[in-house]
Amino acid sequence: MSSSDKPLVIVLMGSESDWETMQRTHKTLDEFGVPHVCRVLSAHRTPDGVAKFVRETDANGAEVYIAGAGLAAALPGAVAALTTRPVLGVPIQSGALNGHDALLAMAQMPPGVPVGALAIGAPGATNAALLAVAVLANKYPEYAERLKTYRASQAEKIAAVKLPCEG
Ligand code: RP5
Repeated sequence: MSSSDKPLVIVLMGSESDWETMQRTHKTLDEFGVPHVCRVLSAHRTPDGVAKFVRETDANGAEVYIAGAGLAAALPGAVAALTTRPVLGVPIQSGALNGHDALLAMAQMPPGVPVGALAIGAPGATNAALLAVAVLANKYPEYAERLKTYRASQAEKIAAVKLPCEG
């Protein structure tokens, strides 16, 4: 089976202010050639918009959702309530609690409707994309191959490091 051009991954964020972080998700998905779309939709400011969009994208064959949000960060949970597809949450590093609030909001979902919470901020945004690629790799061999290549290039970079004190 091979992937088509219709979006397989949906990247949502609660505010335009989240884009600075979430653009890493977009860039990483682009690097892997994953068809995806990004949208700003808010669980508390545009709840009907979230529901309409997730229902449409689900019906259109979306396979993984990634939602970035800061502060109380209701968006990933709201998306998870609307779909049975995997939902990955990226806690945005912001506010008085520096993203710890968002991390707990995502990680502490009550049993029954899970959100896969990633690391706070930039590392989580990149890893959410990589995890989405890993999910797709179970079905699409092209993504499995690209992930292997990506891991191999990381290994090469580490192996090539020479410290002045190595002897
Ligand atoms: C959340 O509130 C968003 O995900 C964002 O991280 C945070 C602040 O939003 P803005 O005030 O920057 O629009 O809903």
